[in-house]
Amino acid sequence: MLVNVCSIIGFNGQITDAAPLLVDSLKKMEYRGYDSVGIATLNDGKILISKGVGKVAEVDKALELHNLPGHVGIGHTRWATHGGVNDKNAHPHFSCTSEIAVVHNGIIDNYQELKDELSKEGHVFKSQTDSEVISHLLEKYCKKYDFDYIKSLIATCNTLKGSFAFVAIFKNGLICGARFDEPLIIGVAPSAIFLSSDVLGFLKYTDKAIFLDNGDIVTIEDGKYHIFDINNNKVTRVITQVAWELASTEKGKYAHHTIKEIHEQPSILLNSINKNNNFQQFCEYVKNASNVYITGSGTSYHSGLLAKRLLAKYAKIKAEVIMSSEFHYFSDTLESNSVVIAISQSGETADVIHSVKKAKEGGSKILSIINVPTSSLARLSDSFLVLNCGPEIGVAATKSFLAQLMVLYNIVSVMSNSRLDLNIAMQKKLVKDVEKTLELDEYIESLMAKLDNEIKHIYILGRSIHYPIALEGSLKIKELAYIHAEGIAAGELKHGPLALIDNKSVVIVLNPVDETYQDVISSSNEIKSRGAVIIGISNKHHDIYDEYIELPECVDFLYPVIEVIPLQIMSYYLALKMQVDPDYPRNLAKSVTVK
Ligand code: AGP
Repeated sequence: MLVNVCSIIGFNGQITDAAPLLVDSLKKMEYRGYDSVGIATLNDGKILISKGVGKVAEVDKALELHNLPGHVGIGHTRWATHGGVNDKNAHPHFSCTSEIAVVHNGIIDNYQELKDELSKEGHVFKSQTDSEVISHLLEKYCKKYDFDYIKSLIATCNTLKGSFAFVAIFKNGLICGARFDEPLIIGVAPSAIFLSSDVLGFLKYTDKAIFLDNGDIVTIEDGKYHIFDINNNKVTRVITQVAWELASTEKGKYAHHTIKEIHEQPSILLNSINKNNNFQQFCEYVKNASNVYITGSGTSYHSGLLAKRLLAKYAKIKAEVIMSSEFHYFSDTLESNSVVIAISQSGETADVIHSVKKAKEGGSKILSIINVPTSSLARLSDSFLVLNCGPEIGVAATKSFLAQLMVLYNIVSVMSNSRLDLNIAMQKKLVKDVEKTLELDEYIESLMAKLDNEIKHIYILGRSIHYPIALEGSLKIKELAYIHAEGIAAGELKHGPLALIDNKSVVIVLNPVDETYQDVISSSNEIKSRGAVIIGISNKHHDIYDEYIELPECVDFLYPVIEVIPLQIMSYYLALKMQVDPDYPRNLAKSVTVK
């Protein structure tokens, strides 16, 4: 299957050099995908392309991308498994005449038949990508419609099947783009226009953004943009002021975005509660629903698993959690008047978007919890709550997870008839507890340094509300440190996983003192007698632990919020121990916008 999660950028600066800005923008968006990079600029009526394999900074250093001359240009970072990671498959892709170059994000489902057809017509392909069909189609239709660009763009978009956003540069200096189920945003700066897959691509230069609608086609010429729909009608879209501050996209005093974002958690923790004023309306939907479903992917799915437990225990609401990649197979069984709560940091994850579309078709109401209020998911929702945790650049979700938990706790609090009361005093105490837990940073670093360098497996045990955190911790260790880790419901040990435990195993037990405490101690005994090293995370020490990470005392139901922090810090230091880049884990991308 094709996988393609890329960043695209177009720039028309009239008097400003395009290349340095394109390189800078691509660096800002690199977290989305990062195995090859390329830019194209226009100089003296000729399109120049420079591209190569590696991260933006590496390729820029080797090829001096920033020195390509010209005031107009396009750029791309690629994350792909299709067609191999090599210079030829890196974008931009030329048409046969080299008079058009294209960058693309998404999947062209019918690329093979188009490629066959275009080849028969004489087009010569130079890459193995699906994306290259776009430049050849544009060339074909430009010829057919005598360089009526809008007609050619519309014909191209009508021919393509799949989900895509692309930006093209023509040898007359025209930049154009199209948005079909992948994000594309216009950035309006005083003397330049950007076209980007992410606001971070232009936030340094302007906070004025136009979030294109699905099916929109845009042309940029002489510093002016024009938007059309697929029927060739000129349309107007509102300019939005982007609330994110650029400062929050920099690493500051930290070595990596990931550790910076972990340490930002106390300051963003309550934004998600205090900056949303539509909790009541959101909860009304939940109250009136015949059935409640929760969906999300990866970390966001884990938030859903915790929400299910909290809703059941404190709000007496039964919710079913279905991971978004599996949702499709259940969607026919959703009852009408159901509510689907979709959780997604980016609001662009393809699995989530497809789930929501399916549910909507079946008559469900869509509620979402997102970090990007202008995202596709927000637009599909009947009501949404915003995380307000600022941009998350590290590929691993850290601060957005905590923010999701806060939103979910507040929903439960609103619906629980005071059984779970997240009052102001408690919120303030929680911020202090998170700060205190973060002070363990150096101690956890030294613990990780002590672990065997050849460590192959880490198991994390927890019961009840701690089980989703065990899953989340293991996901963090896998993606950041490339070490096999498994979150296990402690009671399940004896049903199989115990067979894995030996004197080389490292087992982390999530064991704050609550109704699960004693049972987790029993599991720890079973593990200890097989010779494993046990790291206890708790507010109470026990001799069974070989290593102990002490949590501050807090109210039972809030332990998940603080116990995940040592796991995030562990994952970060394990990544450093394994000498891999925690911000950009191999094979992954921040927003997985394809199925
Ligand atoms: C977690 O660290 C991940 N990188 C990943 O699992 C992520 O949570 C998932 O892809 C969902 O993303 P979303 O929240 O933007 O939808």
